[in-house]
Amino acid sequence: MGKSSKDKRDAYYRLAKEQGWRARSAFKLLQLDEEFNLFENVTRVVDLCAAPGSWSQVLSRVLIKGETFGRCAWQDREAKLRQQMLNVFAPDSSSSTQTGAVVDAPKIVEKKDNEPRRDVKIVAIDLQPISPLPGIITLRADITHPATVPLLLKALDNEFDPSAMGSQQATNRVDLVISDGAPDVTGLHDLDIYVQSQLLFAALNLALCVLKPGGKFVAKIFRGRNVDLLYAQLKIFFEKVYVAKPRSSRASSVEAFIVCINFQPPEGFQASLEEPLGVGNRLPEMLEERQAVLPITAAPGLMQDPASGAWDSVPHKVHTADEDDIYDVEVEDLSVEHTEDIRWVAPFVACGDLSAFDSDASYKLPDDHVSLDPVQPPTAPPYKRAIELRRANGGAYKKTGTK
Ligand SMILES: C[S@@+](CC[C@H](N)C(=O)[O-])C[C@H]1O[C@@H](n2cnc3c(N)ncnc32)[C@H](O)[C@@H]1O
Repeated sequence: MGKSSKDKRDAYYRLAKEQGWRARSAFKLLQLDEEFNLFENVTRVVDLCAAPGSWSQVLSRVLIKGETFGRCAWQDREAKLRQQMLNVFAPDSSSSTQTGAVVDAPKIVEKKDNEPRRDVKIVAIDLQPISPLPGIITLRADITHPATVPLLLKALDNEFDPSAMGSQQATNRVDLVISDGAPDVTGLHDLDIYVQSQLLFAALNLALCVLKPGGKFVAKIFRGRNVDLLYAQLKIFFEKVYVAKPRSSRASSVEAFIVCINFQPPEGFQASLEEPLGVGNRLPEMLEERQAVLPITAAPGLMQDPASGAWDSVPHKVHTADEDDIYDVEVEDLSVEHTEDIRWVAPFVACGDLSAFDSDASYKLPDDHVSLDPVQPPTAPPYKRAIELRRANGGAYKKTGTK
């Protein structure tokens, strides 16, 4: 597909180039932030599977430079405009009424721009090299490898001593861990979903070592058959778990993001990569333990509190066939005995402004459209070697170099 044709078919690809983002993924993070306020009170972040670096760019521009985007930027502009109008029309303090009484001018508080935050620390990791970004520590490492933990802990804290006791725990913890990890997709659905789930567990294990209580974890998932079990497992560690689909993620793709809020590890829990979650029985056992205290059961549907507008992620009662449940659209077989259903369905939240581009639609480009080059071509894509080998062997149709 030519660049121009891709510009037409993928509005976010075109916008990313126009706005200087290294990848269209930047819009996914911005749209997730718009819904979940991910960066509120955040100064320390780990960005996993970060190459070519568009999520890190977002972090850098929001946290280090103090920029705002999307609705937040629009609200800032509106507030500034309101302020300017008030400044123009405000009576000066010496003005008096017809009766001679001095009136107080409305108090005008100058709204400051979003300011760069203090003590920001951002560490980005990927298998691929990441071209430098101002203020960001980049590491080239495999997030599934145990040796990556000390590397990350050292990057987060210079004083970190890998030989000390509890050496897999960060001394100086972070507020947010984000992971956009994706394997090279094979097209074999079940295999891709399995490999993706392994990346997710690796990201979660790292997050458990470095997150501070109250922290947030956001990660890409492929919605497969047993994804509900994953949501229930995440509920062991986080107060709220949502599954979110930004508008910039194609509706036709199984991709979505889990957004986990308020990290609250079970009492006495120690993250350990010697006994990682997702391997062995540790997680299923923890799930059972937790269910004994607070059943994690099937939710009848997405519930939103009409007062606060907050999505309800509190587990609901299990449905039974005799319940008059308005959410139940399936015809239930009443002869089947209902046993306790251990699924917990995470609220699904579509995010991104409705006026935002639809990532599955094609848009007509203006006649004078100039197709830009990507901001940051991949530095060492895994397919580079394959292309070189193919060229050396005469190209795809064995034409190169032949007469
Ligand atoms: C969709 S891209 C990430 C895009 C990135 N968030 C951005 O905004 O530019 C997925 C990345 O996952 C990385 N990845 C896949 N497996 C990995 C692993 N085991 N360890 C580290 N990175 C990995 C790939 O190298 C790739 O760069």
